[in-house]
Amino acid sequence: MRKKMVAGNWKMNLNFSEAEDLIKRIDIDLENYEGEAEVVLCVPYIYLELALDYAYEYERFKVGSQNLSQFENGAYTGEISASMLKQMDLHYTIIGHSERRNYFNEDNPVLIQKVLQALKHDIKPIFCCGEPIEIREKEEQQSYVKSQLENTLFHLNETDFGKVSIAYEPIWAIGTGKTATPEQAEEMHQYIRNLIAKQYNDKVAEQCTVLYGGSCNAKNAKELFAKPNVDGGLIGGASLKAEDFLNIINSF
Ligand code: PGA
Repeated sequence: MRKKMVAGNWKMNLNFSEAEDLIKRIDIDLENYEGEAEVVLCVPYIYLELALDYAYEYERFKVGSQNLSQFENGAYTGEISASMLKQMDLHYTIIGHSERRNYFNEDNPVLIQKVLQALKHDIKPIFCCGEPIEIREKEEQQSYVKSQLENTLFHLNETDFGKVSIAYEPIWAIGTGKTATPEQAEEMHQYIRNLIAKQYNDKVAEQCTVLYGGSCNAKNAKELFAKPNVDGGLIGGASLKAEDFLNIINSF
């Protein structure tokens, strides 16, 4: 059976003590969690060690970064490499979030390198894709997402692709309060799974975790997660409040 997952993407939020409070609270609340979802906290770099300390103590959740460098090492001021992250025993990294594509000009060649770096150092990518509103209005979202995946992930061999989770995040839904309907999410997730089946095979497609992201919250998660091809969520705003995030985790 494929893995279900709820990953929190904190983005550039919270000060140190707020971060510690939130991690502690999530950790305590997960003590009695008996559900099957893997919980992942994708925190800013400087809170990774803090999160990992809690994560390794009781193993109730995993930790991810929100980015990593496309380069192995060297004169890249301000960057953090996959090998540095691996030394911390990091589990996951988000790659290709639309905010990184848009504000930091991360294009497909850069994203390919990031994916390869993560895999080389045994960090599992949560790879984001999703269309802007103009594309949705023209009903071209499927070909848009297809080209994103073809140009970044489908060069991987079957074993490496098997380590990747995909997050479908329509850009018009991110941080806007305008969630995709469960039907819109399911339609795209099923489409993505069919693409994977064509590129690889049915087994690989069946195993791939495909998350939904974009204004997913404690109110709408249940309906979204009830769809057969929606394996969980990548949660931004609602991952910053322990109660909301835990309600989302309990939405399966
Ligand atoms: P949001 O962000 O839940 O705040 O819309 C999701 C994301 O950007 O991953």
